[in-house]
Amino acid sequence: MLQKRIKVGLLGLGTVGSGVYRILTEGKTTVREKAGVDLELERILVRNLKRRRRVDVAAGLLTTDPGAILGDPDIDIVVEVLGGEEPARSYIEEALRAGKQVVTANKEVMAKHGADLLQVARERGVDLFFEASVAGGIPILRTLQESLAGEDVEAVYGIVNGTTNYILTAMDSKGLDFAEVLTEAQASGYAEADPTADIAGHDAARKLVILASLAFNTRVPLDQVYCTGIEGITAADIAAARELGYVIKLLAIARRDGGRVEARVHPALLPQGHPLAAVNGVFNAVLVEGRAVGTLMFYGAGAGQMPTGSAVVGDVIAAARNLGAGARGIIATGFARAGEIIPMEEVETRYYLRLRVAPEPGVLGTVTRCCGAGGVELVSLDVKNWGKDSADLFLRTQPAKEKAFRRVLVALDREPQVYAVESAIRIEGEG
Ligand code: HSE
Repeated sequence: MLQKRIKVGLLGLGTVGSGVYRILTEGKTTVREKAGVDLELERILVRNLKRRRRVDVAAGLLTTDPGAILGDPDIDIVVEVLGGEEPARSYIEEALRAGKQVVTANKEVMAKHGADLLQVARERGVDLFFEASVAGGIPILRTLQESLAGEDVEAVYGIVNGTTNYILTAMDSKGLDFAEVLTEAQASGYAEADPTADIAGHDAARKLVILASLAFNTRVPLDQVYCTGIEGITAADIAAARELGYVIKLLAIARRDGGRVEARVHPALLPQGHPLAAVNGVFNAVLVEGRAVGTLMFYGAGAGQMPTGSAVVGDVIAAARNLGAGARGIIATGFARAGEIIPMEEVETRYYLRLRVAPEPGVLGTVTRCCGAGGVELVSLDVKNWGKDSADLFLRTQPAKEKAFRRVLVALDREPQVYAVESAIRIEGEG
């Protein structure tokens, strides 16, 4: 029998949960029209019943007992917006095993356990939707799975972490160093009290796993994503990059090369005219390169109460439509197919290097020789601040394999004339 009244249980009433609550309650008529069924928010799991909230919720809706949602046979759709790995993963699994439709915004759970959870959903004949897990309000996952289903995707890459993009943008516009901007970002609420997962690139890596698995229909294991954060980026790098015509961004990049996939997260110099160079502050953008469709760009708010809430509610409506029609939705098959990941040593990129060297005759020859011996060709070599004690060298290279580049770093390290390799940052967007 097809259902006309569908009950929703919400796990979590934090930032995203409050957005979901507001959209579901304030836009009730529209939601009903679009879902084709009546959606009723039946119960909300919170940690503390007494806590002051961003939204006015009838006390009767709240519970601290997950069983009141997961074990309630009348609840058809469970929405998980708790964040973190546990207990979120267990709750999702329990809801799926109980035959409920599940919507989650949880990138950590999907990146680490997506394959297993989607398998449970398949076995139980229910849906597991997770649009909000990547790039907040940007509808990129459904686009990859539905609109671009016929596309041979060659690359998916972009800026998928708002915190680090905010920090890099502020470092650029204010000329401040990383630590100063981070403190300011935490004080103004743009960075979390513990921003490690953002700063170190782990958050972006989780999102890349989800994007790449859907884009290439091949599972990308999280532990095989190369990941470097933005801790080492200095105001000097940003200023030097600007002078050379670049901006520095934390990029998440996945590219298909034959049957294999490369997946990496790291800071990169981008030409100032590149579409991603104009993505500033907390905004996100994802570029998709398809064989038939060409290059597409998706831009918008990658986090926040209402944008992420919008993505979650879109999934709730999709789940409700399926229940109303007695159907199942798209199945993220990519998570189920193990693929081959290209080791980072084999990945080819261009590099920018900043060296502090001895201000002596022959030093340029020494540096050029180290690069050549490692198998890396130079595009440019600029000298600055030639002083009594030291000089700065700025190098840009032709594309070279990571292992060749590492050989160059070892060679430079052995040279007495090279005091320090101050920075080594990849260059992207130049072909
Ligand atoms: N911490 C994340 C970010 C939140 O800064 O993008 C959204 O996933």
